[in-house]
Amino acid sequence: MPERTPIAEVKARLERAKSVTVLTGAGISADSGVATFRGADGLWRNFRAEDLATPEAFARDPRLVWEWYNWRRELIATKRPNPAHHALVEMEKRGRRFWLITQNVDGLHRAAGSEQLSEIHGNIWRVRCTRCGQISENRQVPIPILPSCSVCQGLLRPHIVWFGESLAQRDLEQSYAALESCEVMLIIGTSGVVYPAASFAPVAKQAGAFVAEVNLDPTPNSDLMDVSIRGRASETVPLLL
Ligand code: OAD
Repeated sequence: MPERTPIAEVKARLERAKSVTVLTGAGISADSGVATFRGADGLWRNFRAEDLATPEAFARDPRLVWEWYNWRRELIATKRPNPAHHALVEMEKRGRRFWLITQNVDGLHRAAGSEQLSEIHGNIWRVRCTRCGQISENRQVPIPILPSCSVCQGLLRPHIVWFGESLAQRDLEQSYAALESCEVMLIIGTSGVVYPAASFAPVAKQAGAFVAEVNLDPTPNSDLMDVSIRGRASETVPLLL
């Protein structure tokens, strides 16, 4: 019998699986036109993370940080989910245990219709008060700088997990529960260098899952994959349905 292609192998595993967990990164939104962080045109080529995406940077110069987020909000506001985002909504609707963990803050999974998900790095369309902690949705583009809380007038910040900050406890609990119980884990478009997400594949593998990745390039986790699919997310993920 001829050997199955990587896509056919993952598709067959997904069809049989009673529980599926998906981890996504910037690569899934690249096909919608959202810049990734690393690589040739990556955001971190042109900007220093520590100048913009840390609590220290915000304390030092909240105006600069908000200007950067306003620029990104402007870019992301025009982007739409692509066939890979839509395919994951279909996967979720198949009536088995499903959980989507995304590192993306662009909100494109929600825009596509995903509901069972943890946005572990936050969401660029949410703001949080630095004084009272209230979290609210805010889609103003541009947001007036400096924005203040409607409840207590405190300074608002993006509801995003910055370098040096911890993930929300609830997101961690939901993610680990999904990783430890899934039969198949699918990892799409992440370089696998930012923790804790970089350790999620080994956690699922250790718990006995079949682990597959979709990426244009090899990643530090490629060696532990059962199958690696090399290609664009928007072209390959729909083929897994
Ligand atoms: P990266 O920019 O580090 O990695 C993007 C990955 O997507 C790379 O491995 C690319 O090879 C792959 N890729 C690019 N285009 C693709 C395509 N069309 N189809 C499939 N794969 C593609 O982004 P992340 O791994 O998501 O944190 O980065 C992790 C975190 O680092 C981000 O969430 C962000 C950043 O600092 C925060 O914002 C807190």
